[in-house]
Amino acid sequence: MLLAIARARSAGNVTPDVSGGVSWRAEQGWQLQGSWDIAAMELFDLHKPLLDAPRGGVAWVIGQLGQSLDGCVATRSGDSCFINGPETLTHLHRLRALSDAVIAGAGTVACDNPRLTTRHVSGPHPTRVLLDPTLRLAPLVGSAHVFNDEQAQTLWLCDAVYRDQAVALAGASRVLAVPGLLGEGGVLQLERAVVALCSQGLTRLFVEGGGVTVSRFLARRCLDRLHLAVAPLLIGDGRPGLRFGGAERLADCVRPRSRVYCLGSDQLWDLDLRTVA
Ligand SMILES: NC(=O)c1ccc[n+]([C@@H]2O[C@H](COP(=O)([O-])OP(=O)(O)OC[C@H]3O[C@@H](n4cnc5c(N)ncnc54)[C@H](OP(=O)(O)O)[C@@H]3O)[C@@H](O)[C@H]2O)c1
Repeated sequence: MLLAIARARSAGNVTPDVSGGVSWRAEQGWQLQGSWDIAAMELFDLHKPLLDAPRGGVAWVIGQLGQSLDGCVATRSGDSCFINGPETLTHLHRLRALSDAVIAGAGTVACDNPRLTTRHVSGPHPTRVLLDPTLRLAPLVGSAHVFNDEQAQTLWLCDAVYRDQAVALAGASRVLAVPGLLGEGGVLQLERAVVALCSQGLTRLFVEGGGVTVSRFLARRCLDRLHLAVAPLLIGDGRPGLRFGGAERLADCVRPRSRVYCLGSDQLWDLDLRTVA
């Protein structure tokens, strides 16, 4: 039923009439109708914030990371296939289908050569956004799936300083050059990236990784929601998941409202970052 909503929205129906037990009302957003089992109700509840996210110029941003119990998203060498179980992989593809754009960091594209499509579910492909301010992916334009497979639209998101170089390599339709993306000291002004994506009609944004990219969105307070899928696995010394400024006192640490869901043998933490002061 979630994917039926995604397909209907992708076909241009803002408040689609999706038969099969869901309805939409202006004040309540999407609601389940009739009787559903507990698993279906939990699944719907988990996705409701993304389903209800407002359209029309306002961004709603969700991040996700699949990590080990000790907080790694890959081994030292970058192996991350697969930290999580099949249920979490389906969840990941469902999030892609419900989003307008999926955002991946340059390190992930270089390491994993991902397709960023929805091949494990029956929903629409999101626009694939490669966050690469200084064109670190330039040597891969001729070979990476996301530049060559034509399965979905790809936007190479860089600082405007690199626009001409990016257009020469990938073509104008694939480049989103953002003025001032690289701020003082190289700090990414991610709010500008979010605004630029909104101006392309991409407002439901899914930041899929890796750890550096999700951490940067979190540190810039650009995330509304964060899904952390924790697998019963210890990596020991691998590529880190979330890393940001931190605090000296526990009282100053981030303690968002949270819920936990079971995804097979993984535990999915759903963090509402709008509840963080
Ligand atoms: N478990 C998960 O949920 C998950 C999800 C996605 C990825 N991953 C894994 O996470 C790892 C990548 O994530 P990440 O946090 O390191 O990076 P990332 O967030 O994907 O990308 C940003 C970082 O990658 C660096 N980078 C850019 N181009 C690069 C290149 N060609 N080669 C190497 N690094 C480059 C950037 O450096 P500059 O800032 O200097 O440009 C920046 O530090 C991979 O091992 C991937 O398999 C795991």
